[in-house]
Amino acid sequence: MIRTEVTDDLISIFDAARSVAVLTGAGVSAESGVPTFRGGGGTEVWTWRGKHITELSSAELMATDPKLVWEWFDYRRGMLTTIAPNPGHFALAQWERRFEDFTLITQNIDDLHRSAGSLNLLELHGNIWRARCLRCASTFEARDTPLEQNPPLCLVCGGPARPDVVLFGEMLPEGVFERAEEAAARADLFFVIGTSAVVYPAAGLPIIARQAGAKVIEVNPERTDISIYADVTLLGRAGDILPQFIKERG
Ligand code: APR
Repeated sequence: MIRTEVTDDLISIFDAARSVAVLTGAGVSAESGVPTFRGGGGTEVWTWRGKHITELSSAELMATDPKLVWEWFDYRRGMLTTIAPNPGHFALAQWERRFEDFTLITQNIDDLHRSAGSLNLLELHGNIWRARCLRCASTFEARDTPLEQNPPLCLVCGGPARPDVVLFGEMLPEGVFERAEEAAARADLFFVIGTSAVVYPAAGLPIIARQAGAKVIEVNPERTDISIYADVTLLGRAGDILPQFIKERG
């Protein structure tokens, strides 16, 4: 079913839900000015020095030219210092406070959900503000933009560090996806917001939720590969649609 606004029947489903899980992707940050990876909804797509994202954010480049990978992430980190969460992020932080059980699962590494006040957050692809030591695996915050040193050195052992994010060609960090699967399986309402839903395993979460009996609501300006698993696709921008679930009701 396709809708373009949040109707009363959807508000009733939202109000009656006890366990809610949400999967977000790049689209939820698009209205803050962060480009998406594959476009859609009229968004700008990431490009940098003429290279494609799959080449830049790749395990292969990390192995051959880690300095370049850090420069790319530095560019992205620099951009993030100039932007702020949008009404979609803020609505999700408010949603969390309404439900007994609420899990926000994101593929984004930009930290904007946390900046907006979300607490129970599962970051499937890591966090751009963290580095991980290639020698001892310690993780630490790397907030300077640009970095003082490329690569930054581990605060524990002095070894070189890499961004603590999941690159193309890498597995998800242990444990985080299992927790996301559990949240999807116990949800009675699952939202899939601002993702093209082509990158697995994240894209499998709405399917898990649906198979376990949840209602699935998609929010995206366009239909996606996951739309066929959604009970409703709300065609629109996250910043316009999400606040409608919690607007004052007369
Ligand atoms: N509100 C909601 N959705 C939007 C908006 C908006 N304002 N603007 C665009 N979108 C939608 C697009 O229509 C598209 O379906 O956001 C989606 C963005 O898709 P992708 O760029 O593919 O981003 P994502 O699904 O998060 O990518 C998954 O791929 O490159 C990797 O690791 C990276 O986490 C990322 C993963």
